Amino acid sequence: MPAGASSSKAVPVAGPDRSRAQDPDPPHRPVRPRPPVATLAGLGSALPRRVLTNHDLERMVETSDEWIVERTGIRERRLAAPDEASSDLAAAAARRALADAGLGPENIDALIVATVTPDSPLPSTACLVQKALGTRRVAAFDLAAACTGFIYGLAVAEGLIAAGRHETILVVGVETLSRVTDYRDRTTCVLFGDAAGAAVVRPARSPGRGLLSVYLGADGNGGGSLYIPAGGSRLPASTATVAGRLHYVHMNGQEVFRFAVGALALSVRRSLEAAGLGVKDMDLLVPHQANLRIIDAAARLLRVDPERVFHTIENYGNISSASIPVSLDEARRRGRLRPGDTVVLVGFGGGMTYGGAVLVWDGPEEADDH
Ligand code: ACO
Repeated sequence: MPAGASSSKAVPVAGPDRSRAQDPDPPHRPVRPRPPVATLAGLGSALPRRVLTNHDLERMVETSDEWIVERTGIRERRLAAPDEASSDLAAAAARRALADAGLGPENIDALIVATVTPDSPLPSTACLVQKALGTRRVAAFDLAAACTGFIYGLAVAEGLIAAGRHETILVVGVETLSRVTDYRDRTTCVLFGDAAGAAVVRPARSPGRGLLSVYLGADGNGGGSLYIPAGGSRLPASTATVAGRLHYVHMNGQEVFRFAVGALALSVRRSLEAAGLGVKDMDLLVPHQANLRIIDAAARLLRVDPERVFHTIENYGNISSASIPVSLDEARRRGRLRPGDTVVLVGFGGGMTYGGAVLVWDGPEEADDH
């Protein structure tokens, strides 16, 4: 229970439903490997300037740099400026992804923003980003799948391209988690940060390269392990919800941890299986960055060499739906992503949601000559 949340007892909040044990092998429809229909043609990210280090947090709550590094792997995280909202970071990342793809806002057919920290409930952050970029009057909508949001966004974009409905789709993962983080609660405030990552999704253009598979899952029974109790239709904002600090993230860290390790390993296996591949075929694993120990434990379960696992958590903390696109972008800039590489992207988060995608990287047009 977060510090200062004692008055939350006055208002009913969702709690974990332990009536059903976690299903280690949830049902899925086996799919045949098929040629990719979509690819990632450009990447971009945006990180706020302000850095909050573990030593800064030592002055805010009873914690230590040593505890945070040992239990999470995090050393610092970025925080949005007071006048910086999710749509600002999302638009900045989107511009970079478009430039990377050699395209402009006029080329965008549809815009998907994955976020649990929208600027406001209405209008959608996607519509605000559309306005900021100055795109044409194309489809724009938000998608809420917490830290798996970017994978869900890729799945929707791939489907729209496969259906022939859209051709150039911007998928953004953005969070300003500092706005829903209780900086009196040491069990959550050391974890979260703010950032945006974006990808331009286009029809596949080279044989065998692009998105080979996407796998999605969710278990609503775990919803009470990670949630924001108030501010929605169940518990609208009131003086009692504000006093009870119910607009902040509440989390049962150990339950999330247990779920996360299994969901991460399951999503890697299922997405590779759908692509007709195995763990040995994976050149790089880019997982959601929630805790280095979660990543290490899942890698051990999968028997993946740590060299093949990419992380950015040390510098950015948990940035939820932004973590996969930001990490993918950084992997490429650090030379860890070469055309032809098989990359597995994998997420898990509130909901609980989880999912993975197998991508054979072909990058922007000019990278094709590799
Ligand atoms: N500094 C110092 N001590 C702390 C801190 C802190 N920041 N936070 C908790 N502690 C204390 C606890 O109070 C507890 O003390 P006690 O033994 O006296 O009761 C002790 O440390 C151990 O606490 P645990 O909860 O057992 O610590 P654990 O090793 O499980 O680490 C953590 C906690 C880091 C939260 C871990 O459970 C975790 O990472 N869980 C997953 C969280 C996560 O991934 N969330 C988001 C996923 S989805 C998404 O990304 C939105």
